Amino acid sequence: MTQHQITIPYQEAKYTELTADDRQLVDLAREATNRSYAPYSHFHVGAAIRLDDGTTVTGANQENVAFPSGTCAERTACYYAHAAHPHTPFAAIAIAARQADGTPVATPVAPCGACRQALLQYEMIAGHNVRVLLVGADSIYLLPSVSSLLPFAFTEF
Ligand code: THU
Repeated sequence: MTQHQITIPYQEAKYTELTADDRQLVDLAREATNRSYAPYSHFHVGAAIRLDDGTTVTGANQENVAFPSGTCAERTACYYAHAAHPHTPFAAIAIAARQADGTPVATPVAPCGACRQALLQYEMIAGHNVRVLLVGADSIYLLPSVSSLLPFAFTEF
């Protein structure tokens, strides 16, 4: 039997330590939480994607009375981004969330499994890493790629 271990690198940074581009993406993700439609969970998630040409696209979670029909912020953003800009690879995505009372989540929120799988597809299409910024109230986690969030991904059949 062989023992293996997977570790993922990530950095934790204060907002003020980010580059101007990353600060802008964080601002856009935070702002996008205001366009969330979450009458059931009251949990408002925003995502902002930067494309390789600098274009930014945002999305927010959209819930539905038929619960499974709702969509997370990350998938709203990545499907919209690729539908609108099918030939421009993704460079980075920032994800932010706030509670119903407007309080930003203290601990950065991480994408659900389905969103990791969806985002991975766009990292594969890009042919390079898509950076991930998970935004908390006081600190931001910086991950080098979507694949670091999804070891043993399903990528072909
Ligand atoms: N949600 C997202 O939009 N992104 C995540 O990363 C986690 C969860 C949404 C789905 C649902 O509308 C609400 O948050 C509560 O799960």
